[in-house]
Amino acid sequence: MNVNGKQYQSIWFDEALNSVNIIDQTCLPHKFETLILKTLEDTCHAIEAMQVRGAPLIGVAAAYGMYLALSENPEKVSPALERLLATRPTAVNLRWALERVEKALEEVSIERRSSVALATARELEREDMAICEKIGEHGATLLNEIWESKADKSAVLNVLTHCNAGALATVDWGTALSVIYKAAEKGIPVHVWVDETRPRNQGAALTCWELAQHGVSHTLIVDNAGGHLMQQGLVDCCVVGSDRTTITGDVCNKIGTYLKALAAHDNSIPFFVALPVSSIDFTLSDGVSEIPIEERSSEEVSHISGIAENGELLTVRMTVKDIAISNFAFDVTPARLISKIITEKGIFDAQESELLKLKT
Ligand code: MRU
Repeated sequence: MNVNGKQYQSIWFDEALNSVNIIDQTCLPHKFETLILKTLEDTCHAIEAMQVRGAPLIGVAAAYGMYLALSENPEKVSPALERLLATRPTAVNLRWALERVEKALEEVSIERRSSVALATARELEREDMAICEKIGEHGATLLNEIWESKADKSAVLNVLTHCNAGALATVDWGTALSVIYKAAEKGIPVHVWVDETRPRNQGAALTCWELAQHGVSHTLIVDNAGGHLMQQGLVDCCVVGSDRTTITGDVCNKIGTYLKALAAHDNSIPFFVALPVSSIDFTLSDGVSEIPIEERSSEEVSHISGIAENGELLTVRMTVKDIAISNFAFDVTPARLISKIITEKGIFDAQESELLKLKT
């Protein structure tokens, strides 16, 4: 990804320093800071505190966490797997990536465990970049079709997105935003409506920052504005990511995605979900009843962070002190509301007979 004209990944291994590096996403958009993860606990903290977030990135970070854990103590494979698995419950890529490391460690001598975990993490990192670029290429063909069918060629192609499913949510490129980047590369004049995405504001803080770094036209909107924009003919399609998708095509993504899908359906606007095959949980068939929904701290709702005019970073409370708060981080969009699922393997309908083709 482009950061002030320099290429970055959200996570990378520095061979010269032998270090695992991340962009600290909790500092964005006000400060660009990178961090070195040195231990298993550093990695778990980074995932839990959302210094790294986004389903694919969490998976790769967890694989690096295994490397760091086994460098500390090569005997503790199971405790490290368990600790990492417990960091965030919803995104299935975490489990998927840890299973890849676990498999790679089978029949590996204790002395070689950390180096095998490192090799696997680096492989997952490379794979994720290639997968996300492919998702973008496939998805851009859908955006191109919509653009081609638009009568007014002096207009722009208006895409609405929710949360951050960009390069920051993966190693590079992103899923939903990869589709947008590839469409822009094709010369389609894309404009993105960015949902702010309360309570962590990944849209306002991360997606807007990322789109600005890539020179993609965008406008920040409050979470409740999407339906109105759709009714006014100001949205040509929606593209979002996924943290977990069932074999039947139900998609679990950041809280609020479901309401956007309902509004899109009511206004006959295509609703696309861009995701790597690693986000499909082939063991689940009903998203609403089977996907565990992460509940996060009430402070994410009662408090808000930002920068004061004097440059000071501040967190302030918006509510009275004693207040009941519920903070579900994800919701499930049923398959019937999804127009297409865009993967690295191509474009599919959100239904079991289609998604089964992706099972290896
Ligand atoms: O809580 P977060 O910020 O990890 O949630 C991220 C999302 O919901 C993304 O849309 C999802 O992970 C898809 S990212 C490619």
